Amino acid sequence: MSAGRFFNGIVLLALLLGFGAPRVGPQDSPKRENYVGDAACRACHDDIDRTYLHTGHHLTSQTPGSSSILGKFSAPSNTLATADPTLRFVMSARGGGFFQSAVFGRAPDELTHTEQIDIVVGSGERGQSYLYWKGDRLFQLPVSYWTPLGEWVNSPGYLDGTAEFTRPIDPRCLECHAGYFASIASAPPANRYRKTGFDLGITCERCHGPGREHIGLEQARARQAANSTLNASPDKTNGADSGIVNPGSLSRERQVDVCAECHGGLGEERGAAFSFVPGRVLADYLTLVVPGPDAKLDVHGNQVALLERSRCYRSSPQMSCITCHDVHAPERAAAEYSDRCLGCHKVESCGLFPKLGGEIEKNCVDCHMQVQESDVIVSAVGGKQVKMRIRNHWIKVYPAAVSMRD
Ligand code: HEC
Ligand code: HEC
Ligand code: HEC
Ligand code: HEC
Ligand code: HEC
Ligand code: HEC
Ligand code: HEC
Repeated sequence: MSAGRFFNGIVLLALLLGFGAPRVGPQDSPKRENYVGDAACRACHDDIDRTYLHTGHHLTSQTPGSSSILGKFSAPSNTLATADPTLRFVMSARGGGFFQSAVFGRAPDELTHTEQIDIVVGSGERGQSYLYWKGDRLFQLPVSYWTPLGEWVNSPGYLDGTAEFTRPIDPRCLECHAGYFASIASAPPANRYRKTGFDLGITCERCHGPGREHIGLEQARARQAANSTLNASPDKTNGADSGIVNPGSLSRERQVDVCAECHGGLGEERGAAFSFVPGRVLADYLTLVVPGPDAKLDVHGNQVALLERSRCYRSSPQMSCITCHDVHAPERAAAEYSDRCLGCHKVESCGLFPKLGGEIEKNCVDCHMQVQESDVIVSAVGGKQVKMRIRNHWIKVYPAAVSMRD
């Protein structure tokens, strides 16, 4: 072997081992001014933007308003009784503001504690929770809204019969439910944020990375095309670097990382919240719990680990979240997902086909990705526990479905 080839071999080995390309981490995150916000994308991607506005992602945090808050503010539906007969919550709307009051005691000797709803969290597909500012600190309010019941409920995890206004909102909550919040990290507590310049709703750039360079490139290309006599119609990017991340072009690992930032469980931040950039290795930013094969997994918020348990996922290297989901458009009805299953399976491969025939095609999902109750997101109301119901992403044969065979 020549010295040159030997040397090349070393370089190749070094690259393979990762010496040549130092991993980037939270410390190398792009500057904030390179993020431009959704309105800037609208100018050229109006078609995507128009459907995106109706998604759970976009609506997952909003400013309070009579259409964004799903709970009712008129009597008697504006009251939540609690397990303590001398404590009730009353929701009221006045002067353009929306409020939650804890009312202690009985008339005429009542004491109230009132806070204003400042931020709405949750599209309301399943439910909503509400936050309020106290100075530059954000807290969760004691009353949430549960869509399946159509009622106000005690916020998940709050003890029925107590009025707690002191639960801090940590950065991780906002990282999953908002576009951006700037922490005032210099001094604890962790729930201090800048009250201006935050972005509600999950923004395009959370999945695509900062857009400034891309917009500059595309504007220059459009100008060039307009000036060119040879090339009258604006050319598409033609495979040139677009200056923005398209998750569809990433490896499966990096693609799933984009979703796992918020659908891989709580985890533990390794750097500041909101510093992860799509295309990079999520593990450098966030340490997610890797569950053992027999660990019980809650259905809430961990579609990644559940899907990874599925034989579908393990046996097909190309499967990822976007095999089934188009995140630019609202969620489809569960039954409509059969077409995705049939992209890889034949109806005849289902053990129930001999008995039920083509009927099963109408809804693969209800038998193989069952809706189950979360043991983590639980609210107390009227002496009962209500649990959030979520679709289990572990695609498999569930015992309940097997009984239908016989
Ligand atoms: C000046 C017009 C313009 C603006 C503004 C713009 N884009 Fe684009 N974008 C384009 C064009 C043209 C293409 C290439 C053709 C296509 O895919 O539509 C493109 C392609 C893309 C792609 C695919 C890139 C690839 O390499 O496959 C993504 C992702 C994207 N844009 C996201 C965004 C986001 C997010 C924003 C806002 C931050 C944005 N764009 C703003 C014009 C624009
Ligand atoms: C690790 C990411 C993550 C964190 C942290 C997180 N959530 Fe969520 N949340 C989700 C996901 C994902 C869903 C959708 C349901 C599911 O998959 O379990 C959701 C659902 C919800 C919903 C129901 C929304 C709807 O209508 O579908 C509410 C309300 C909510 N979260 C509030 C909060 C609040 C308040 C916090 C912080 C105190 C919080 N969440 C922390 C990821 C997160
Ligand atoms: C939750 C993550 C997420 C958000 C938020 C998001 N996208 Fe995407 N986007 C994707 C993924 C994933 C793909 C790749 C889709 C594929 O290849 O099937 C993609 C692809 C694209 C493309 C390439 C062309 C295409 O249609 O596939 C454009 C352009 C784009 N997104 C623009 C936007 C704009 C504009 C917004 C905000 C209005 C936005 N995206 C919000 C995840 C996201
Ligand atoms: C920044 C955090 C974040 C990222 C990144 C993210 N999601 Fe989500 N996603 C959420 C939250 C929070 C919800 C619950 C929204 C709600 O209903 O309030 C959600 C809801 C959803 C839903 C249910 C939508 C509905 O309308 O009920 C799907 C499907 C989904 N996400 C898929 C994906 C996929 C696929 C990716 C990666 C391409 C992704 N998400 C990336 C936070 C995120
Ligand atoms: C990207 C391709 C792909 C998609 C999409 C897909 N599967 Fe699969 N699935 C597979 C492969 C590959 C296997 C493993 C087959 C084997 O090992 O013999 C599998 C296995 C299964 C199994 C057996 C699971 C077990 O634990 O034994 C079931 C049930 C199943 N799939 C149902 C579904 C349903 C329902 C859908 C739609 C929600 C779906 N699959 C979507 C590729 C896919
Ligand atoms: C009514 C419930 C039900 C519906 C609907 C249903 N399945 Fe099944 N499926 C089952 C049961 C139960 C089994 C196990 C049968 C057995 O053990 O003999 C099974 C087995 C399978 C298997 C084989 C798993 C293995 O062991 O290799 C696949 C693949 C599968 N189903 C795919 C699908 C697809 C794709 C659809 C939609 C076209 C579908 N199923 C619809 C209940 C259902
Ligand atoms: C094989 C198809 C398939 C794959 C792959 C898939 N999903 Fe889903 N997902 C579904 C179906 C079906 C639903 C239920 C839709 C409904 O009920 O309207 C769903 C619902 C969801 C929801 C809403 C939760 C709920 O209870 O309604 C979230 C969040 C979500 N998916 C995230 C993801 C993420 C993140 C990934 C990748 C790790 C992923 N999905 C991969 C089929 C899939």
